[in-house]
Amino acid sequence: MSLSLSTSSEVVCLQSKVYNRLPYSKTMLHELLLPYMASTVRKSTALYLRPTLVTFSLEVGSIIPLVVRPPTVLLQSPEPNTVVFAFGLAKEGASVVLAARRLDALEGVKRKVSAYGGRVLVVKTDITKKEQVENLVSTASAQLGPVDILVSCAGVMYFTMMANVQTEEWDRTVDVNCKGLLNCLSSTVPGMLERGIGHIVAISSDAGRKVFPGLGVYSASKFFVEATLQALRLETAGSGLRVTSIQPGNTATELLGMSTDAEAIKKYGEPTGAKVLDAEDVASSIVYAVCQPEHVAVNEILIEPRDEPI
Ligand SMILES: NC(=O)c1ccc[n+]([C@@H]2O[C@H](COP(=O)([O-])OP(=O)(O)OC[C@H]3O[C@@H](n4cnc5c(N)ncnc54)[C@H](OP(=O)(O)O)[C@@H]3O)[C@@H](O)[C@H]2O)c1
Repeated sequence: MSLSLSTSSEVVCLQSKVYNRLPYSKTMLHELLLPYMASTVRKSTALYLRPTLVTFSLEVGSIIPLVVRPPTVLLQSPEPNTVVFAFGLAKEGASVVLAARRLDALEGVKRKVSAYGGRVLVVKTDITKKEQVENLVSTASAQLGPVDILVSCAGVMYFTMMANVQTEEWDRTVDVNCKGLLNCLSSTVPGMLERGIGHIVAISSDAGRKVFPGLGVYSASKFFVEATLQALRLETAGSGLRVTSIQPGNTATELLGMSTDAEAIKKYGEPTGAKVLDAEDVASSIVYAVCQPEHVAVNEILIEPRDEPI
């Protein structure tokens, strides 16, 4: 077969068309496409995925809702946080679906990324509502093709003492961090299994490995995330699915600002003075996970401020 391609977006088109029929092995496909790719593009499984990502969070202050394929693109952009990754995706022709509740913020990201040439779809979604998540995934599939990579990022974190029984905040934690993840999985995993390929990435926490005082219910919710991902990984081994848990420590985002339990904040929520992670640090770990060769699964990444080990 001979191919005549000149731009990376054409590469992606070709990959989309060819992938399902797979008349060529992935290695052959890579070799065919390589001459047409930017020098920064690395050989990675992600390259062969139809370029539709669904992600549940957004820009300002939040940890990476997006995934970029060639990691080098990530380093080239001066833009912070999400936009960095969206630019990277756009440059390589990937399609990105952004989902969260604040439409204006999503539109802001979309404007920046679209200007760069990427296909970006915005779908207002509350992940605690199963029907909204189902609508998100079906809208994404209809407009951009099946979802290949899901980055489930949305989360809440309230410092609360167990004795102070702030039950509304506990409920909210369970709704977003636990049920929200399940809604994301139920809407994407069956399709991935059917197609024999897919990557689930969920932002857990170092609190998914160790309980932090003042963060009991939050830690419990992240233990839930870990258990759910472990079960999914074990039950689907051999199916083509990859399941990655990202476990960040303290990261400079807006997450810290939502707590109301003054006692818990005073006792356990004050900064230690250590340099905490930036969103980009966590984003890099996701990029690493999704850009591995097909036979490699990065199942967990614990990434923390150097001076705050658990
Ligand atoms: N920051 C840290 O130190 C840290 C450490 C370890 C793990 N994490 C985890 O990292 C993830 C992201 O947190 P972050 O630090 O980036 O916090 P953030 O800046 O507050 O971002 C949270 C994001 O979740 C979205 N979200 C919240 N509720 C939602 C809902 N019901 N439906 C859809 N989207 C919702 C928010 O968008 P909308 O408000 O527009 O919906 C926002 O974009 C969380 O899972 C958190 O547990 C954070």
